Amino acid sequence: MGIVILFGALIIALIIGSIVLIFIRRYRKTGIWMLCTLVSLIILTAVYVYFPRHFKRNYLQKEHEWSGLAFRRYADSLNFYIGAIPAGISLSDPRFSENFNSVTPENALKMGPLLKDFKVGEYDFSQADMLVNQALEKNLRVRGHTLVWGKQADMFKSPDLRYWLENFPEGERSSILQKAIENHIITVLDHFRGRIHVWDVVNEPMSMINKGKLENNVFLKYLGEEYIPGAFQIAHSADPDLKLFLNENLISYTDKTAGAFLKLVKKLKDNNIPIAGVGIQAHIGSRRDTSVADLRNFLEKITSMGLEVEITEMDARLRLFSGADDPYEAQGKYYARILRTCLDIPLCTGLTFWGFSDNRSWEDSMSVFFPRPNEPYLFDRDMNPKPAYYHVYKTLKLEHEARKGSL
Ligand code: G3I
Repeated sequence: MGIVILFGALIIALIIGSIVLIFIRRYRKTGIWMLCTLVSLIILTAVYVYFPRHFKRNYLQKEHEWSGLAFRRYADSLNFYIGAIPAGISLSDPRFSENFNSVTPENALKMGPLLKDFKVGEYDFSQADMLVNQALEKNLRVRGHTLVWGKQADMFKSPDLRYWLENFPEGERSSILQKAIENHIITVLDHFRGRIHVWDVVNEPMSMINKGKLENNVFLKYLGEEYIPGAFQIAHSADPDLKLFLNENLISYTDKTAGAFLKLVKKLKDNNIPIAGVGIQAHIGSRRDTSVADLRNFLEKITSMGLEVEITEMDARLRLFSGADDPYEAQGKYYARILRTCLDIPLCTGLTFWGFSDNRSWEDSMSVFFPRPNEPYLFDRDMNPKPAYYHVYKTLKLEHEARKGSL
């Protein structure tokens, strides 16, 4: 993301420079030539990046030995959580409840959607209760996502806590925010007590832009770094039986941000903060962050601290596999490698896909950053199982048989 911003700034600087040259008689021709070249480059790049690509769905012509079979039973036998978000699918649909044993509500448990008209301190749990109760009817584990997320409670978001705090004198804002977030955590955990046993207490504390730094959100501004351990302590006091996770979206598992994140986790652990695990989102948006070896090393660094780890928001855009003979097959094999990696690490207890079918993908709603086709999930836009489905099925089935054989 940082490189994209730098490149964008360079292009803008060159365009401004060429326009300035045009206004200097002596350099007018050079300026016009520069501007035309830059504009042509931008148009050609945009056409290449955004030109719709269509990949042949070879899997529709193939017979699959496992068609019509489901993989939840294997995950259950492994005491492993294989999950998805209920995007465009009902939890009572067997294609969900017979394949997955875990569900993460995409938005229903976030601060904004739980607040009535986004008013701080006023709650409407009706939508969330419907979803959570439906999950429990299907004996699905619910991942609570998420109690404290600076990026979604800040400027121009709902709720916009930074704007809300301006109703109060500057000197009182920190204590008012502290009380508000305490009330939020306690209210939500009390409401779902006994129904949700694991929560992403803090989501995405790291900055996506300032490498190695914490996100400069409203919580950091008014409460300092202590907002992170503080949230865990409030959650633990509210319900000591909960598994409390820190959830993060890392683009690389070897850069400064990854290193700083590990230091943050270690500091929480060393200070006896009640953290049970770490969620690694694994949104694979660009070719750079597709290294399974780096992911394995990173997951093992976390579990070496005695913490659980879950892959919490898995998706790998189809376009990243455009160089393969069959991108759908390559995507499936990639997911199989990620799932295999998690199954090989005893404290890696779950993998959740951040979608169900290609009909609904958060990347499609941000296609300026994620040019289509994204098509990241296990079912295609017509709800056909994709190779990704069969590779997940096969990986879980083989692991089940291997462990059964070793008993
Ligand atoms: O429901 C309202 C609707 O009433 C309103 O008309 C519309 C107008 O904007 O907004 C709708 O809410 C949107 C919501 O998704 C439901 O569609 C929010 O604006 C939009 O910001 C929200 O986006 C979600 C995003 O998190 C921010 O909360 C995405 O669906 C969701 O996939 C995405 O998921 C995040 C994880 O929570 C954390 N990790 C990254 C991941 C992808 O960004």
